Amino acid sequence: MQKDLQKIKKEFETKLKKISDTFSLEQLEQEFFSRKNGKFNDLLKGLKDLSDDARKKFGKIANEIKSELEAMMLAKKEIFQKEILGKIAETESIDVTAPQLPRQERGHLHPNTQLQYTLEDLFASMGFLVWDGPELESDYYNFTALNVPPHHPARDMQDTFYLKGHPDWVMRTQTSSFQVRAMQKFGVPLRLIVPGRVFRNESTDPRHEHTFYQMEGIVVGKNITFGDMKGVLETVAKHLYGEQTQMRLRPKFYPFVEPGVNGEITCSLCTGKGCRVCKYTGWLEIFGAGMVHPHVLKEGGVDSTEYQGFAFGFGLSRLVMLKYGIEDVRHLQSGDLRFLQQF
Ligand code: PHE
Repeated sequence: MQKDLQKIKKEFETKLKKISDTFSLEQLEQEFFSRKNGKFNDLLKGLKDLSDDARKKFGKIANEIKSELEAMMLAKKEIFQKEILGKIAETESIDVTAPQLPRQERGHLHPNTQLQYTLEDLFASMGFLVWDGPELESDYYNFTALNVPPHHPARDMQDTFYLKGHPDWVMRTQTSSFQVRAMQKFGVPLRLIVPGRVFRNESTDPRHEHTFYQMEGIVVGKNITFGDMKGVLETVAKHLYGEQTQMRLRPKFYPFVEPGVNGEITCSLCTGKGCRVCKYTGWLEIFGAGMVHPHVLKEGGVDSTEYQGFAFGFGLSRLVMLKYGIEDVRHLQSGDLRFLQQF
């Protein structure tokens, strides 16, 4: 047995000397020490046939030889590693004078979108469906179905972009264009909001932009009252601008609601004392609203003797401006990073 061990040791040493790369070294390791069929391990299997004393003796010798051979392998491995590192150092030096790579900027949501998501979450918690309507809209849904027939003077207030050669199609001037679509699509009872982009043929100035954002809401059901409307709108105002916020409603004409109101809240920037943003009135107009007109219910296929409801439209861009004290609406669409990076 001892002879065999010495023989294997010799064989290993001769082979090891000839080895010049890591791969062959690993193969050699397998050849001798693989658990399954390594030469050295095979020999050790014979130990079990020996007497107790002999097994102890040879076991010890075998272990010593094994450690010796392993140490030799390790030494060789280290030599190879040093060689590899040396080669890398030769070919890949670090140029400390090279310019720094630009830092990767991460984008974030536009302030409009941030506010839109906040409101969507709030309305969803009150059981509202969040839906999306087309931006290119038929004249019918944008105007006629909302009690604004052709040549109605209210059209002047919301001049828009018509499609060349298709006078029946317009870029929607208000998200209210989804009111009748919503009733036709979902029927009653209905609780839904539609945030989205709207368009008006305006000459732009700090308070007007040809493209801006609104958020429409419509609720239709049995026994829906003006008081319900007030409760919902007050909840939104307080959620956005704080518990101390007060709201007031003043009569305003919109052809598709009766009665109609515009909603104002105490200015969040000066807390109602009066400042430049609220034009020293202490109040800010943030929505239009009212009880859905029976004609509009009828267009939506809803029986106005049985059902009633309310609708409201927030100027989403307006809300963003008020929240952050932005003085010019045109910043929002500018795509100017100096502006956007502030949010
Ligand atoms: N659509 C109206 C506007 O753009 C706002 C509004 C919505 C008013 C719903 C009443 C009801 O001015």
